[in-house]
Amino acid sequence: MIELCGITKEYKRGERRVCALSELSLKIDTGEKCAVCGASGSGKSTLLNILGCLDTQTRGDYFLNGVRVTKRNMRALRRDVIGFIFQSFELIPHMTALENVQLPLMISGVPSRVRREKAAAALVSVGLGDRMTHYPGELSGGQKQRAAIARALVKDPPLLLADEPCGNLDPASAKEITDILLNCGKTLVLITHDVNAAAKMPRIIKIENGELKNGKTGQE
Ligand SMILES: Nc1ncnc2c1ncn2[C@@H]1O[C@H](COP(=O)(O)OP(=O)(O)OP(=O)(O)O)[C@@H](O)[C@H]1O
Ligand SMILES: [Mg+2]
Repeated sequence: MIELCGITKEYKRGERRVCALSELSLKIDTGEKCAVCGASGSGKSTLLNILGCLDTQTRGDYFLNGVRVTKRNMRALRRDVIGFIFQSFELIPHMTALENVQLPLMISGVPSRVRREKAAAALVSVGLGDRMTHYPGELSGGQKQRAAIARALVKDPPLLLADEPCGNLDPASAKEITDILLNCGKTLVLITHDVNAAAKMPRIIKIENGELKNGKTGQE
């Protein structure tokens, strides 16, 4: 599903140059669930932004579902293949949970009745069937993150990318969210500082100073 070949990412501003990822190569199969762990500044978000077709590498190739990601196709790949989950939920405050979850379908031009049905089903699947008409401000942190997961799942993308999804949650909610992500049947790449969450994942990709710690391919 994912193949990174010699990915280097440099951030440049004037004379200053930061090498956030250095010649990183990595394969992730369809259906694999991986945690990405590493110290602050090690390059985790940079890696996720490239995997998510939100940013481009300075050097190297990225193949997603066998397609080489380019500036031209990254928007379409992002729309069709990837669901995102963020630490800060990123829900729209003046929209209900149901409206928030419908947004990606609205952008794709799905008719309103189908949109509502799919969004409701996604909310039920994360256990929020009884909170559909609540606004984000009326939901707990764990419930907000569940609504955000429903929004990521509503278009049924094969790949889920999550950047510290439990970073703002108490341990009980964090466990619920990790379990939902593990059991949703998608390929999953999850950045986490939470050792309990990482320990549940079948594969751990360790990153240090922009390089893989567990060997060139990220395998133990
Ligand atoms: N837009 C940017 N411009 C310049 N340097 C950047 C930029 N974004 C990240 N960096 C640098 O790249 C390196 C990797 O950053 P990244 O955000 O990927 O780290 P991280 O592992 O996600 O850290 P954290 O756990 O704190 O979120 C850091 O040294 C950071 O300062
Ligand atoms: Mg980060």
